[in-house]
Amino acid sequence: MRIGIIGLGSMGQMLAKSFCKSAVIQPEHVVVFNRTPAKAEQLRAEYGVVAGASAQAVCEQAELIFLCTKPLDILPVLRGLSLSAEKHIVSVAAGVSIADLETVHDGPVSKVIPTVVSSELHGVSLYTHSDRVNAQQRGHLLALLSAIGEVQEVADTEIETATILSSSAPGLLAGILDSFAQAAVRKTPELGIEKARSILVETMLGTALLLKNEQLGFDQLIERVATKGGITEEGLRVLAKTLPGGFDELFAMTAAKHAALKELVQKQIGEQSDEKE
Ligand SMILES: NC(=O)c1ccc[n+]([C@@H]2O[C@H](COP(=O)([O-])OP(=O)(O)OC[C@H]3O[C@@H](n4cnc5c(N)ncnc54)[C@H](OP(=O)(O)O)[C@@H]3O)[C@@H](O)[C@H]2O)c1
Repeated sequence: MRIGIIGLGSMGQMLAKSFCKSAVIQPEHVVVFNRTPAKAEQLRAEYGVVAGASAQAVCEQAELIFLCTKPLDILPVLRGLSLSAEKHIVSVAAGVSIADLETVHDGPVSKVIPTVVSSELHGVSLYTHSDRVNAQQRGHLLALLSAIGEVQEVADTEIETATILSSSAPGLLAGILDSFAQAAVRKTPELGIEKARSILVETMLGTALLLKNEQLGFDQLIERVATKGGITEEGLRVLAKTLPGGFDELFAMTAAKHAALKELVQKQIGEQSDEKE
């Protein structure tokens, strides 16, 4: 099976490179296209994928097509394509729902939220399908995504919050670690930011492995580290004053951002149906 990737920014490139790196597909079965051709050309030169002449050419050569443009470019790109009904379209965009995609494509559509950490063949890809995606198409898509990390099916009601945990979290965690390191250096300047950073990165990796490999609950790991009345227990008490409220504020903000994006997508759909009338 050939797959297509349209849009080679951060996500499109990550998917193309990670599929090749994982060897789940041969590079010559990956056809790519980007508005600025140099990105496709570079990917072809480095990985041996096929650079399509246009988005339409990608769709003619591939059965499963990932749309990896910014959210407000997804429906315009899709409208510009002439697609047979069996083509399986996968959008990776936030704010564009399965129902939105179905206003343009009569065939099978899926929504996938990938994550940058899948370049390390880790992380969780979230997915949801339309009813028109058959078992074989689901199987193909999940085989690809499972090769670059874990997969998690999510309901429409869960996807926005889960997106923050899977796809925004690498950036958020980097911000939290940066803040942690900066505070350490403010307290002890001679430690230096590079030493603080390297201690934290290795600690985060070990923490993730411990939680995952020993299937520990967060509370179980806390119990292992925080002795009664000790420094870590006190530290958790200090963090509990600000962290829960901070995270609630984060989710309130991201919900508002998602709502604003969805409103813009609905406006696009409305304008398109006005044009048709
Ligand atoms: N970044 C993340 O961590 C992340 C995670 C999950 C989901 N997503 C979703 O992934 C999507 C892409 O995000 P991104 O961060 O990869 O964005 P990005 O870096 O801006 O990449 C978008 C790419 O789409 C290309 N493009 C735009 N219009 C096109 C067209 N008509 N035909 C072909 N290519 C076109 C752009 O080409 P040019 O080179 O000409 O600009 C650019 O390379 C978004 O919808 C976002 O919601 C992102």
